[in-house]
Amino acid sequence: MRHEDLISTMTLAEKCTLLQGATTFGTRPIERLGIPSVEFSDGPSGVRHQAGDADHLGLNASEPATCFPTAVTIANSWDPRLAERVAAAMGAEAASQGVGVLLGPGLCIKRNPLCGRNFEYFSEDPCLSGTMAAAYVRGIQSTGIGACPKHYAANSQETRRQASDSVLDERTLREIYLAGFETCVTESAPRTIMTSYNLVNGTYANESSHLLGDILRDEWGFDGAVVTDWGGSNDHAAGVAAGSTIEMPAPGLGSVRELMDAVRSGALSEADLDERVDEAVELALSVAPAVEAARRSFDADAHHALAREAAAAGCVLLKNEGELLPLAAGTRVALIGDFAKTPHYQGAGSSAVNSTRVDSLLGLMGETDLDLVGYEPGFERDGGESPARRGAALDLAAHADVVLLCLGLTEIQESEGADRPDMRLNDNQLELAHAVAGVNPNVAVLLSAGSAVESDWMDDARAVLYCALGGQAGAGGALDVVTGRTCPSGRLSETWPLRLSDVPSSASFPSEGRCAEYREGLYVGYRYFQSAGAPVALPFGFGLSYTTFAYSGLEASPDGVALTVANTGNVAGAEVVQLYVAKPEREVFRPEQELRGFAKVELAPGESRRVTIPLTERSFAYFNVATGRWEVEGGAYELRVGASCEDIRLVGVVELAGTGAPNPYAGVDVTPYETADVTSVDDAHFSALLGRPLPDDTPGIGRNMCFCDLGHGRSLVFWVVWLALRAMKRAAERSGRPNLNVLFVWNMPLRAIAKMTGGMADMGVVDALVREVRGFGWGGAVLLALSLALGWGAGVGALLWALWVVAPIALALLANLVRNRALARKL
Ligand code: BGC
Repeated sequence: MRHEDLISTMTLAEKCTLLQGATTFGTRPIERLGIPSVEFSDGPSGVRHQAGDADHLGLNASEPATCFPTAVTIANSWDPRLAERVAAAMGAEAASQGVGVLLGPGLCIKRNPLCGRNFEYFSEDPCLSGTMAAAYVRGIQSTGIGACPKHYAANSQETRRQASDSVLDERTLREIYLAGFETCVTESAPRTIMTSYNLVNGTYANESSHLLGDILRDEWGFDGAVVTDWGGSNDHAAGVAAGSTIEMPAPGLGSVRELMDAVRSGALSEADLDERVDEAVELALSVAPAVEAARRSFDADAHHALAREAAAAGCVLLKNEGELLPLAAGTRVALIGDFAKTPHYQGAGSSAVNSTRVDSLLGLMGETDLDLVGYEPGFERDGGESPARRGAALDLAAHADVVLLCLGLTEIQESEGADRPDMRLNDNQLELAHAVAGVNPNVAVLLSAGSAVESDWMDDARAVLYCALGGQAGAGGALDVVTGRTCPSGRLSETWPLRLSDVPSSASFPSEGRCAEYREGLYVGYRYFQSAGAPVALPFGFGLSYTTFAYSGLEASPDGVALTVANTGNVAGAEVVQLYVAKPEREVFRPEQELRGFAKVELAPGESRRVTIPLTERSFAYFNVATGRWEVEGGAYELRVGASCEDIRLVGVVELAGTGAPNPYAGVDVTPYETADVTSVDDAHFSALLGRPLPDDTPGIGRNMCFCDLGHGRSLVFWVVWLALRAMKRAAERSGRPNLNVLFVWNMPLRAIAKMTGGMADMGVVDALVREVRGFGWGGAVLLALSLALGWGAGVGALLWALWVVAPIALALLANLVRNRALARKL
């Protein structure tokens, strides 16, 4: 332990108070021992530091900060150095606002394009995700504060996000869902890590000694503080025993009492408690100097310029027929689409930043040497039909050389707390695109979306520039590419399927039941499409450029590849060289090929450069569920170097002796996984892969029953609560603006009431509520009947009923208050 002396002077109560938040974003200081409070702030694409009343989903305004491009955009740049610079700027802003830990990066794997938070995550691939996340952590922590990679682990859907059980086999967990975290933790040593809300194979991630102890701390050597997601702690004592450090946000002294009781009863050892206290103290002491020393301001202009550079680097040119782009000076441009004036540049939820300023394409056109003929919104943002808007847009389009048509997903389609219902752009946008192409074929679409969309509409455009979610300077970044100031070098960090139904998890995503079964196993994103030989709209790693590159001179060895890349075109540009490892002859099933390294190279016209991409033994390994270790199958491996997963330019072959481990699937029927036929794996095969029977999917009534399930409860009061919430959720959906608080509560289990009410309620109160949901309140009906029978009247009966319902809850609230007061006196 690093602070043994200090810890030996603490009382049990003091130790326990260090392990949870005291405010929505801050931990409790112990002044007498000189332990300061740590201030956390979201998030992955900029600082959301709420100075006044804090709510954790961003409804209350936060201090102005630079809104950098979201993770998907930075991932599309495939440029870890850029990611590090962006993250360093975010870190500096955070420190300037008194923030000690920035809650990011987010590196959950994009299992399905519909996940509402995909915009906040990097990729479907753990190599790209882990490399980018490590760069973020290095950048943030270069400023002296802490980063907090999230959400660990197997957190892939927003529906029921606080109480969904991700059911997956250990190999898939390790190779797909943990591998990025492993790279991030081992390469960049984050000071903290955030556990996810969900359970993994029946245990809350925050209470899993397998995830936190065996893997994170023992295997990967993580020695920082594990922080729960906000309201994500189920049983803090169990969490602390498993290796979780700080419960957030402010569960009140009830959580302290639980820890103290657990130590006294022996359920939690004092040694485990001390380990966690040591981590909390280390965090508080290590980030404080940077926060204290930080300037109280930052260079907003310089950060805006960096955000613009990053937005341009994250743009992916998806189509460019007849080299419509870049546009020459003097091109007469019609700017069409509501996003041109009011950009969709970030997603909704806890990551939303109060931007220092926001550029729009319309506002910046004057900066370019393009000739703006006019602007028309063309469509209603909320999806409604507007013949007048469309008509005006068509008139305008007919009078221009080129139409810059701004399409995209809307705010309600990219939000924390809700998954998308489909993968399409709104029909009114698609109809407009088709009509515009009818009056002017020179259409260049600028697409704002944080995740893949179905793309049949691309036939209506000669050029498509995917800007992802570009942050506050996204418009400038896009214009830099449109005008040729920046040569596009972004590549897709996720596969764009032809249709949603092609995605192997589509039939069961998002899971509405208690369990989210990852039946497709390893076959996520390109790993599925390439293994199954299924066509896609746009492959992983794909992106066009204004120049061309040639690959030659491959040297391949088990330690990596070296090759020469030449810029064979007329403009300077950057190429993303991707290295995939494949094992055509294999005994143990594995995806067709897997990304194991990449390099981004900037080259002047005519310039060539030798590029190396290293490999390690792990690049060839699979996780063997029989030996519980990473093993390498002996034999020949292909090292495939290309410009996308489909565009392989050079192939080398290397031989490896292998580790000689037995095939873990010998005698087990895992046929769908051997043939990559995983779109509808049956129970027997999934159970064979899991190595155990399938869990029960029925949500029960208990502390972890979600508000969205209250309709299945037995309480009149909670039926009303459920109906009211459902009505509010539907109203928000109709309005086109997500109601984040309603979404949060909708997916929230009852026990979170004890975690999110600043100490007003504890688990005793939750238990009283659970009794009510179980139908305790109907006992009041008996009192009413009795009152009528005894002639006391309906009024008295109703009063008795109300007392029956309210009294146990009121008593529990009172008991909590009294106990908290007693403890507070001792602190
Ligand atoms: C989100 C986290 C976020 C936290 C604090 C949670 O609801 O899942 O990503 O960091 O809130 O705002």
